Amino acid sequence: MINIAILGYGTVGSGVYEVFRTNKALIEQRLGEPIHVKYVLDLRDFPGDPVEEVLVHDFDTIVNDPDISIAAEVMGGTGAAYVFTKKALEAGISVCTSNKALVAEHGRELMQIARDKGVSYLFEASCGGGIPIIRAINDSLIADAIDEVAGILNGTTNYMLFKMAEEGSDFDEVLKEAQAMGYAEADPTADVEGHDACRKIAILSTLAYGKFIDYHDIPTEGITKITTEDMKYAKAIRSRIKLLGLSRETEEGTIAIVAPFMVNESESLYNVNDVFNGIYVHGNMLGDAMFYGSGAGKLPTASAVASDIVDAAIHLHKTVRTNWNNEPARMVEPGEAEWNFYVRTKGVKITEAESLFAKPKGVQIPECPEEMAYTTGMMKQSEFDKAVEKLGDKLISSIRIFNRN
Ligand code: HSE
Repeated sequence: MINIAILGYGTVGSGVYEVFRTNKALIEQRLGEPIHVKYVLDLRDFPGDPVEEVLVHDFDTIVNDPDISIAAEVMGGTGAAYVFTKKALEAGISVCTSNKALVAEHGRELMQIARDKGVSYLFEASCGGGIPIIRAINDSLIADAIDEVAGILNGTTNYMLFKMAEEGSDFDEVLKEAQAMGYAEADPTADVEGHDACRKIAILSTLAYGKFIDYHDIPTEGITKITTEDMKYAKAIRSRIKLLGLSRETEEGTIAIVAPFMVNESESLYNVNDVFNGIYVHGNMLGDAMFYGSGAGKLPTASAVASDIVDAAIHLHKTVRTNWNNEPARMVEPGEAEWNFYVRTKGVKITEAESLFAKPKGVQIPECPEEMAYTTGMMKQSEFDKAVEKLGDKLISSIRIFNRN
């Protein structure tokens, strides 16, 4: 029997508990021995909940129990979660987590401790909710040189953007719905400002390219400035606005960004709607692959944590191999990255647009007769920034256009 502990009985923690109760027999059959949840750690009490039988309030009970070989850290945050993860790994306990903030912030140190102690630090649930994207990058694509990862990595904002565009929902109302469904972070600014997607693309890119990508180095924009008019222009160019986490491995170094993009209907990511996530990966041998599925919520995320627990159980007292490497990546300056842009102006004429932007094409919508929007050819970010500066208050908004390499 393998004894495990669950640290945190919130949305994901209660889901992990449920996975091991519901699928107990099949997990035992597949693993060859039972997994028993010996402890669930939480400061709160849960009167009447079956978790009461195993609930503890003191982390030391867990870390000092030699029966515990694996812990699920599903508390979130980088405070107590960091302290407990470090202590658990140092005590020879493998840790499986959904905590992208902790992996992005302290992954280097925690991974090194796990390797030194001969245990595992696994985080399938940190990116893409229930989509097995990390195992795919580490294992299924082990023989490929990945050169691009682009994904809808935040379920909350994808849900919000979709409801706003298709049903005309109000930003605050639809955010409340996402919170009620258990999709949003404890502090939803992490979702709407793009910070959550930023940590996820940093983790995925670190594994994809085998060099450490610091999330602080990734320019990040959220969805708070997107207006209903931008969404109408998107429709006019047969696109939807999606918050993407995107990275590319080039000869000059790694390009990474989190920002809203116009995604054309010809792209698979266009059809990734609602709370779903979709991650497009390009490999030099593979070509294209798209990973699609439930990107947030209690049971999809718990399913991914549970899969790591079973993996850690299969590799008990060993470190599961991953592509994680602490050597820092060489990042391309954000101004050097090239994109196509959509730029919305107060009636800027085509001749002026042509003097500022590469190959501009005009777009007008009946709702905004005083305006003129353009899509541009590829431009360096720094050149585009200079051009829009010249527009002064004739600039209304701009959004990058997603184009694959
Ligand atoms: N708040 C996150 C999201 C949860 O909406 O995607 C899953 O990581």
